Amino acid sequence: MVKIIIGSDHAGFNLKEKLKKYFDKKKIRYEDVGTYSLERVDYPYYAKKVARKIIKNRNTRGILICGTGTGMVIAANKIKGVRAVVAYDLYSAKMSRMDNDANILALRGRYFSYKKTQQIVNMWINSKFTGKSIHRKRIKSIE
Ligand code: RB5
Repeated sequence: MVKIIIGSDHAGFNLKEKLKKYFDKKKIRYEDVGTYSLERVDYPYYAKKVARKIIKNRNTRGILICGTGTGMVIAANKIKGVRAVVAYDLYSAKMSRMDNDANILALRGRYFSYKKTQQIVNMWINSKFTGKSIHRKRIKSIE
């Protein structure tokens, strides 16, 4: 089972804490790299922290949360080997794994349904890269 490295800024802190409780219940392994309070912080720092860890450890994937998910994705994708996506719906979450082998999921901490977020997270964690050669080729050409 994959281990999730989770990080957020202040805008994603509450959702991160909620998801950790959910992971505990579901026995999903995770590591929380912060932030650890609602004090204002800068999202690129946490994006980099999660990105570096998932690149180093094969059996890990990342979850990043800020207000919208967008800042996290922009920052994380600067790290070589990261394929970070933001998903607001189930289809994108699923296809980002199947076709793009996304290794980081960014989530929206503000103004979004928690129930939907939980479904998106579940879908993303449980979806697998198809490994089809056409997708491998495209991923390789990104790198
Ligand atoms: C913080 O206020 C907010 O800008 C940040 O969480 C995020 O939404 C950036 O993309």
